[in-house]
Amino acid sequence: MPDPPQQTGGGESPPAGDVATMEKIVSLCKRRGFVFPSSEIYGGVGSTYDYGHYGVLLKTNVKNEWWRAMIGERDDIVAIDSAILQHPRVWEASGHLEGFTDPLVDCRTCGQRFRADQLQELACGRKPSRHPGEAEECSLTEARDFNLMFETTIGPVQESGSKAYLRPETAQGIFINFKNVLQFSRKHPPFGIAQVGKSFRNEITPGNFVFRTREFEQMEMEYFVPPADAEMWFEHWLAERESWYVRLGIRPDHLRLRPHDPDELSHYSSATSDIEYLFPSPEGPRWSELEGIANRGDYDLSRHAQFSGEKLEYFDQATGERYVPHVIEPAAGADRATLAFLVDSYDEELVEREGTGEGERRTVLRLHPRLAPVKAAVLPLVGKDGQPELAREVHHLVRERVQSEYDSGGAIGRRYRRQDEIGTPFCLTIDHQSLEDRSVTLRDRDSLAQERLPIDGIAEEIERRVTAPWKTPK
Ligand code: GAP
Repeated sequence: MPDPPQQTGGGESPPAGDVATMEKIVSLCKRRGFVFPSSEIYGGVGSTYDYGHYGVLLKTNVKNEWWRAMIGERDDIVAIDSAILQHPRVWEASGHLEGFTDPLVDCRTCGQRFRADQLQELACGRKPSRHPGEAEECSLTEARDFNLMFETTIGPVQESGSKAYLRPETAQGIFINFKNVLQFSRKHPPFGIAQVGKSFRNEITPGNFVFRTREFEQMEMEYFVPPADAEMWFEHWLAERESWYVRLGIRPDHLRLRPHDPDELSHYSSATSDIEYLFPSPEGPRWSELEGIANRGDYDLSRHAQFSGEKLEYFDQATGERYVPHVIEPAAGADRATLAFLVDSYDEELVEREGTGEGERRTVLRLHPRLAPVKAAVLPLVGKDGQPELAREVHHLVRERVQSEYDSGGAIGRRYRRQDEIGTPFCLTIDHQSLEDRSVTLRDRDSLAQERLPIDGIAEEIERRVTAPWKTPK
């Protein structure tokens, strides 16, 4: 459901020494090829973004870690990948056709549109910059409900009956497959169905980089439980999901749980809590939703049963009991999580320039090694004397196990800086000694410590370090 109005940190500020601003994150993402504005050569298109090489690797790692937590480390959850285009009745049954709206106002003077419940946080396009409606010449219309679903048509002829919608959440693709999954998976409550995929919302005011966009990826899991156990599982998933972010390196003091007020709850929910992260914004740090965890009761299965005529319930053969399971839903955003990991890992510090004794500022992403786009960079010190050949051999060994990159271009210091900026936890440098005794220098991104290790077994050693428990040094 649409995000509630964002809250500011209520006077809370990030811990001292925190340097990540959204401008710096956007600039690094562009400079190092993580994320670009979409359709840039045509002037961009309404808050959509394209992911470049390192952005794809990072977001893929975030999604893989989510899958690992959902199905790799548990036996009670199965995966699904449902279609983006679904029967239009799905959105009637789910309540989206009627209720997936945000209040919209137009300004008759400047022609801009704003979310009526966010006027105090938005800037009017006219100078001097003020909130919409504040200047004398502003002329705002009454608020009206604006449905956030993108419409399209199915088939070559645009006629009544061919209307369809791009899914605004992945969740409904799970509910409409409840019966299929129950039959093939031989699971019984409590069990979950997990899905990762694109969702689309025609947001009135997208923004703050990839925080709120019109096309984004969700990581959602619907956990079906006996009704009497719903509260217990709600608490379980709150704790489990918050801990996932911490295990992957987010600082606990940058996360908080916020229960929704009764008037904020979505139509399907009896209780929802957001995991919020202290995101940077143009107005300073703000607590904003990272993931929502909802107790959806039996709303979705009952509605789809009613609209489709199918029985969507569980029959417990042991007790002879027949019931509609209740659903606990942890719903995360892959882009928003990726942004949080970028922000939380961003750091700047003064270090000594390689071998000169002079100070220089370095920017470093202190990402969890599991999330880092590249785990190891293999760097020949010089581009001659057999070093490039040996470095390529090491790169080929390492890339069999983890994502590795070979880089021979430019001064070694500049190559280290480049790897720091994309968050590579380990650099392996090949020098003249390497040719004599088949050893490499391993440089640690965070401590800058260097150690000499044998080439034989180096790939296994890197893999061991990448998968070891890790705590952010920040
Ligand atoms: N099925 C429930 C559901 O979709 P939601 O709170 O609307 O709940 C879940 O969305 C998550 O999806 C959010 O916590 C956020 O991380 C992500 N998300 C929602 N709208 C988004 C948008 N416009 N841009 C980027 N991420 C978004």
